[in-house]
Amino acid sequence: MKILLASAEATPFAKVGGLGDAVSLIAQSVAKLGHEARVILPLYASINRANLVPYDQPMIVNMGYGIEFCCLWKTVNFGVEFLFVEFEKYFGRKGIYGENGEGYGDNWERFSFFSRAVIDACDFTDWIPRIIHAHDWHSGLLPVMLREQRVYRLSETASVFTIHNLAHQGYSPPGILNFVGLPQKLLHPFAMEAMGAINIMKGALSYANKITTVSQSYANEIKTPAHGCGLDDLLTYRAADLIGICNAVDGDIWSPEKDPLIPAKFTHENLKGKTKCKVALQEKVGLNVDVDVLLIGVISRLVEQKGLDIVCDILPEMMDNLHIQFVLLGSGDPALEAKFRFHERNYSGRVSVKIGYDNVLSHLIEAGADCFLMPSRYEPCGMNQMYSMLYGTLPVVHATGGLRDSVENYDAQSRSGSGFVFYRLNHKSLYDSVGWACATYYDHRQDFVAMQKYAMQKDFSMEKMANAYLEVYEYSLDSHGKRT
Ligand code: ADP
Ligand code: GLC
Repeated sequence: MKILLASAEATPFAKVGGLGDAVSLIAQSVAKLGHEARVILPLYASINRANLVPYDQPMIVNMGYGIEFCCLWKTVNFGVEFLFVEFEKYFGRKGIYGENGEGYGDNWERFSFFSRAVIDACDFTDWIPRIIHAHDWHSGLLPVMLREQRVYRLSETASVFTIHNLAHQGYSPPGILNFVGLPQKLLHPFAMEAMGAINIMKGALSYANKITTVSQSYANEIKTPAHGCGLDDLLTYRAADLIGICNAVDGDIWSPEKDPLIPAKFTHENLKGKTKCKVALQEKVGLNVDVDVLLIGVISRLVEQKGLDIVCDILPEMMDNLHIQFVLLGSGDPALEAKFRFHERNYSGRVSVKIGYDNVLSHLIEAGADCFLMPSRYEPCGMNQMYSMLYGTLPVVHATGGLRDSVENYDAQSRSGSGFVFYRLNHKSLYDSVGWACATYYDHRQDFVAMQKYAMQKDFSMEKMANAYLEVYEYSLDSHGKRT
């Protein structure tokens, strides 16, 4: 089956968060099962063109106001062909979504242009997919275009739309319809209108043949007002077409046995290398070298979703009362960055804060820390808690979305589990859970080590995920057949 995945991010070319990891992994995993998968994304200025090949001819993009010319580039990575849409005006910038913590004001224009370019690229490359699989609002116009623009060669193509984060919906001015050549009737509450604007996510959820999201719990949560971000009614209406599929982990990249980015390898049978990684991490980030202290890691975008403001509030209390070290790698909200830095100055040698994006350090934190903190307010899936478990770094998480589904809470009776889970997100629960992890680490070390070994053997393999998506692709073809 030919499947075209369209996304604003795809590793190793463009990654801001887990979206990039998830999309490339879906493509790679279905390709491994013998299907033809391609990924298409914008050619951002940050992407190294050295290994990409441009098509000879420029490609016409049929916009509502006339035609534009862009260039298409391609390359092959892990058996998957990647296509890149080059258009200087929109993608020749420093950032992917914005710069200095501010989103670009014309993101709706940039990504609606990209969506139309995806449609035109099918004809241009003479590669007609059976499925167009769109991800998040940036490519959310694709299911709408497939139905409303009636592109001749794509009449048999079905659409699947995956929600990685429902909070970002792509609110756009009504002029977007003329801009990309979609009919005015879509400016209607039963189609794409919301508060006088066009809501791209709403359009995707209304028009896609099937909808998926990245964990079963998040699929349930988004049908409720608390997590539905205003679209819970629509998602409830489409409940029969909404499927939760947990992301997988790329075992070639995230494995303590093979990882070239860490100073010592280790397995669940021999954890010695993990201690070496802990020392290397402490040295690297300026923490006191001490193999006995419980070292807690965080790697995250510093945004409201991640709940790290709560950690920041209680960090002094934790540092004063618990025997722990804390290392954070991340960037985002400047005020939160500054507060974490303030704590770093007050707890020098015990708190380390690295602001920025650093892939190599992220691997060292996963390998060297003992626990990994993820107090997310909501978490559609979350990749880091899975990476952590595979590196024997026990996650301390809020029971939400994919965190709830992937981390098994420590059970003191049976002395088992793969992490520490708290059910209410507030300062006290968070503090108590870290305290509980501490108590287990210091007073029940055997349990802690048994949990590490168990967590390292968890199965987040790609094959299970690939089979689930293939089933959804089949369902969407069936439902498309019924609709046309
Ligand atoms: P989200 O996509 O919501 O940010 P996920 O847990 O799904 O959350 O994925 C985050 C991904 O981004 C992980 O692969 C994580 O390691 C990576 N990441 C986040 N912040 C940084 C950073 N500052 N440096 C390196 N990697 C980061
Ligand atoms: C989003 C979500 C995150 C998820 C990722 C990949 O960024 O916030 O929970 O893991 O997408 O699906």
